[in-house]
Amino acid sequence: MPVVTFFNEHRSFDVEPNTNLRTLMQKVNVSPYRGLDILLNCRGNNFCGTCAVEVVDGKGASPRGQDEEATLMGNLVIAKVVDKNLRLACQTNITGDIVVRTCPSRITDKQKTKERFALIGIASFFGLVLAAMFVVLLLDMIHLF
Ligand code: FES
Repeated sequence: MPVVTFFNEHRSFDVEPNTNLRTLMQKVNVSPYRGLDILLNCRGNNFCGTCAVEVVDGKGASPRGQDEEATLMGNLVIAKVVDKNLRLACQTNITGDIVVRTCPSRITDKQKTKERFALIGIASFFGLVLAAMFVVLLLDMIHLF
C-alpha cells in the first residue's frame, strides 16, 4: 500500500493505489486551499488551480497531463511559473509512496502577465469600438442623428 506523507502537517497515511490526492486530503482533513479558496474552488474539476501542491518526490504520483499544466499556468490575466514538482491535488492519483507539501509558494511570470494584460487591453479597445459603432448604428436606425 502506498504511503502519503504530508510534509507541513507531519502526518502519513496508507492509501489504496490510484486514490485521488484531493479526495484523500478531504478525507483526512488536510486542506490544499488557502483563505477564500476553501469556498471558491472548482470542486476538483481542473479549472481553478487552487488545489496546487508540491509533490516533493513525484515517483508515486500519476503523470501530469496537458490540461493540468494549462491550469497550473495561471488564469487569463496572471501567468504563473510552473515548477516540475507542482501538481493539482484533484488531478493527481497516488501510485506509490509520495511526500506532499501543501500551499507551495507560486511565482508570477511577469513577462507573460504583461503580455496577457496587453492582449486584454487590445481586445477591450476593439470591443469598445465595436460597441460604439453598434450604438451609432442603432441611433441612426431610430433617426436620432
Ligand atoms: S480544485 Fe480546482 S483545479 Fe483542483
